[in-house]
Amino acid sequence: MNRPPQYGDFQYEIYLDGLKGIAPRYPVDFASLEEKAHAVMPWWVRNYVAAGCGNEHTQRANVEAFNRWGLVPRMFNGSYERDLSVSLFGVNLPSPIFMSPIGVIGLCSQDFHGDLRVAEAAAATGVPMMTSTLSMDPMEEIAQHLGQTPGFFQLYTPGDRDLAESLINRAQGAGFKAIALTLDTWVTGWRPRDLNYASFPQLRGYCLSNYFTDPYFRKRLEKSPEEDPAAAAREWMKVFGNSLTWDDLKWIREVSHVPLIAKGICHPEDARKAIDLGVDAIYCSNHGGRQANGGLSALEMLGGVVEAADGVPVLFDSGVRNGSDVVKALALGATAVGIGRPYAYALAVGGTDGVIQQLRSILAEADLLMAVDGYPTIADLRKGGLIKAV
Ligand SMILES: Cc1cc2nc3c(=O)[nH]c(=O)nc-3n(C[C@H](O)[C@H](O)[C@H](O)COP(=O)(O)O)c2cc1C
Repeated sequence: MNRPPQYGDFQYEIYLDGLKGIAPRYPVDFASLEEKAHAVMPWWVRNYVAAGCGNEHTQRANVEAFNRWGLVPRMFNGSYERDLSVSLFGVNLPSPIFMSPIGVIGLCSQDFHGDLRVAEAAAATGVPMMTSTLSMDPMEEIAQHLGQTPGFFQLYTPGDRDLAESLINRAQGAGFKAIALTLDTWVTGWRPRDLNYASFPQLRGYCLSNYFTDPYFRKRLEKSPEEDPAAAAREWMKVFGNSLTWDDLKWIREVSHVPLIAKGICHPEDARKAIDLGVDAIYCSNHGGRQANGGLSALEMLGGVVEAADGVPVLFDSGVRNGSDVVKALALGATAVGIGRPYAYALAVGGTDGVIQQLRSILAEADLLMAVDGYPTIADLRKGGLIKAV
């Protein structure tokens, strides 16, 4: 059997480079990366990425929740080699992390083709990208940059069913291995950082390429998006939102031929019902606190969702900033953990290389925590290694 990747070895690469006088080109930790990114991003992109809902209490709670959990170190159990691989609805992954969908990721790289740069980082690291409906480049082009790494497509289900089915069919045709339905964003949450400057990138025509290239979207327009982009963006606003019902889920299940992931599920009853209606994975997330300033962190809701899912894979994100957070979410039962803002900032600072370095850093920290604390596999982590400290 092949030896699983030992992600922690990345630190030896860094220290050995140091002997040649070479330091990492980008910070390996989130706080320094965020600071650098904020210095280089255009103000309207920075605000959009940093923005949370209301006074951003939930956004902060997502991050702080991780501090209330701690891993109990175990000794004498041979964690010299670790195995972090996972399997999701038949897709085998070498590591338990993926890149969460980020609508403006296209704008986070200096060339405004961030979706392609992230896809290249996915190809280089084996860490899947979940590409957003809101991208600067169309999904078919993004798929071509993913190499051998599986990709997932995130769907904002439009109000127009023909357009929705067209986007689903295009994603399947482009080779995406699963479709994630985002349920918590049929309307945008109240985000003062953007509102104070009246700035919303999509209404300026950014990140709408999947719509502008779609025959069913184009049919709705009097003039093409090339001739009248402002009118096309206004039409997008009309068609974007769809507050889905359980009946809509039945329809989406019927027209989708790849595994379906329900994103934004935080209540155990919703998880159970979605699974009963044929969803293949639950994605527990509060959108990073961008949508509702409801108070509870996503991490607090993970345990209940995992229990209700009863063995069906549970993806998790919101507040994950480093490898220790990844390990804690896995210990609480997440099957795979989504990285959000950290890779957006890494992209802003270092393009494809920046994202690769940040993903490797997160994996190295996770792997080394498991090594030092004596948990060689994810199954070992789940045997009660994590306790609530406060
Ligand atoms: C700038 C930005 C844009 C996002 N766009 C989308 C999107 O298009 N679709 C989606 O399902 N989630 C989107 N999200 C939510 C992420 O998928 C993820 O749930 C969130 O980033 C997790 O929070 P964290 O980054 O604070 O860890 C976005 C998040 C950010 C920060």
